[in-house]
Amino acid sequence: MPSEAKRSKASEKSLTRWWKAPKLDRATAKLVTEHMHAYSFPAAMGLVRWADFRAVRRLLDVGGGSGCFSIALALRYPKVHCTILELPAISRLSARYVDQYELEHRIDTRPMNMFKDAWPEGHDAVFFSNVFHDWDRATCAFLGRRSFDALPAGGRLYVHEILLADSKDGPLAAASFSMNILLTTDGQQFTSEELEDLLQECGFVDVSVAHSYGYFSLVSARKPFTARSSRLRRRRATRQQAAV
Ligand SMILES: C[S@@+](CC[C@H](N)C(=O)[O-])C[C@H]1O[C@@H](n2cnc3c(N)ncnc32)[C@H](O)[C@@H]1O
Repeated sequence: MPSEAKRSKASEKSLTRWWKAPKLDRATAKLVTEHMHAYSFPAAMGLVRWADFRAVRRLLDVGGGSGCFSIALALRYPKVHCTILELPAISRLSARYVDQYELEHRIDTRPMNMFKDAWPEGHDAVFFSNVFHDWDRATCAFLGRRSFDALPAGGRLYVHEILLADSKDGPLAAASFSMNILLTTDGQQFTSEELEDLLQECGFVDVSVAHSYGYFSLVSARKPFTARSSRLRRRRATRQQAAV
């Protein structure tokens, strides 16, 4: 069966169909968030032990789910402040997880739509974990551009994902997970090269990729310090993309 046909058949059960629903029901929101929390919390704790987030003061955790990454970061870095941006039905639950860790004075929750609503201001870092893989490339580029616009000069963008090898045929865990994501969302796992291209196209510089915890990698990028250099880089990346 061609992959598009498989995808449309599977989309009857798709996760992205839930995200796009006008109103996500409470039972589904709870089920998905508990599942995501169990899946992501160990990786979150591993990530904050491994990666250096000392330069981050205020982090915007977009599609932050249970808030596990903001919670892990706040536990590790006592001065950091986080904002979890989530759909309203999930945001209620993120607030509960934050309360459980008594971090409500350092982690805010914002019930909103990351595509449609204006993002909260005043963050020097934007973080996405397991969000890009739910969407197609054009949608991820839209989120990349929104991040770029929301950040100050020198601000940082982080994308935390399980990455495929550039050949796209492994490693086994990433390829198997990508099949699962392909069948249940609008997206699939990216390669590091694909994410580097995408972020450069959005204007980011100094893109680096490093293996983090378990099967995960952390892609980091920076918004340039001058508007001129960012405009030039964005134009150059778009030209390169058009030439491919
Ligand atoms: C795969 S989960 C990842 C959750 C968390 N970042 C993690 O790694 O555990 C994707 C998240 O994106 C959120 N999301 C999807 N569409 C959204 C939207 N339009 N606005 C805000 N959040 C959205 C979902 O509610 C879900 O919690």
